[in-house]
Amino acid sequence: MALLEIRNVTRRFGDFIAVDNVSISIEAGEFFTLLGPSGCGKTTLLRMIAGFDLPDSGQILLDGKDMVDTPSEKRPIHTVFQSYALFPHMTVADNIAFPLRMAGKTSDEIKSRVREALDDVRLSNFGNRFPEELSGGQKQRVAFARGLVNRPRLLLLDEPLGALDAKLREEMQIELINLQKDMGVTFVFITHAQNEALALSHRIAVMNQGNIEQLDEPSRIYGFPRNRFVADFIGKISMINAQVLEAAPSHLKLMVAGLGEVTAPSKEGVRVGDTGVMAIRPEQVRISHHAEETELKNHFLGKVQGFLYVGDVTTYIVELPNGASIEALLPNSAPGRAKFFEAGDPVAVSWRHDAGIFLND
Ligand SMILES: Nc1ncnc2c1ncn2[C@@H]1O[C@H](COP(=O)(O)OP(=O)(O)O)[C@@H](O)[C@H]1O
Ligand SMILES: [Mg+2]
Repeated sequence: MALLEIRNVTRRFGDFIAVDNVSISIEAGEFFTLLGPSGCGKTTLLRMIAGFDLPDSGQILLDGKDMVDTPSEKRPIHTVFQSYALFPHMTVADNIAFPLRMAGKTSDEIKSRVREALDDVRLSNFGNRFPEELSGGQKQRVAFARGLVNRPRLLLLDEPLGALDAKLREEMQIELINLQKDMGVTFVFITHAQNEALALSHRIAVMNQGNIEQLDEPSRIYGFPRNRFVADFIGKISMINAQVLEAAPSHLKLMVAGLGEVTAPSKEGVRVGDTGVMAIRPEQVRISHHAEETELKNHFLGKVQGFLYVGDVTTYIVELPNGASIEALLPNSAPGRAKFFEAGDPVAVSWRHDAGIFLND
């Protein structure tokens, strides 16, 4: 049985549907992420799991038991917010002890559990400090410790790293992965940052306007986005209008306007004549000088329109004869190397037959 089952949950605010008939099953021990743009309904869904709010229809079950009559403080669930929500007048140790005091634990047990929790988040010597004496990352670690000290079945995290700068954020991501693994607590994590979702999660639900667009493992969300919204929201991708010429069990043959025929992986439910886009990730596009040979089937000539140097890699935007553009990414593997091609260079782009995917919705 799933630890958490969200069954056809809907939440309206007036005429507006914030969460639209959402169903998700989350297993014990999972690091599960709700990913989507701001306003898509992530926090609304999380608040209903926590018990701060109730669905208008549908059910939320924990260990198979409907939570509708269980108030938030009686649910074995804790929530960590971006704002840390620490008590400013309490020491770090007292902040972490708070849920244990509320649960009526003995002072001996509180002491040893707080010490353990401080060790878990590598703040052993910070118990006597006050929140204002900590950095942002340390405050967030205190919030994690407080969230985990009572050993909840489920820890909900609402954009907990949103206030941290990029470098610290990456450090904290690694800490979160380790913390979740060590504690074995199930995490439901919210973020609008796709790279964070890909890095942390066992599974991701991509949300858009109250709906789930795709629920899958990170590599499948990235590699096999189900539709244009998911493809566009996760990572970089080029999309070129295409129509299906041939739909075989082993492959699709697409007609790309102005380019010609392109071979793509087969896809269920796709029929001859369907229109949509061929979508391809920049790192899967090979770019070379015209003269170079390639064995790849999907091979087209174009012209470098511009490029974007970001240090480790350079992305080249290549204009195709049909006016569409396609991005190709190359690592700058030699020291000081910033580019291999100049704007205006005639080039060839090519990709494996299984790289470009057809999306018709
Ligand atoms: N209490 C409320 N009353 C009215 N509208 C709300 C309320 N809470 C959330 N909303 C609306 O529901 C939508 C989803 O909000 P939210 O779940 O906070 O999005 P997210 O967390 O994905 O950014 C937003 O358009 C928001 O304005
Ligand atoms: Mg939110």
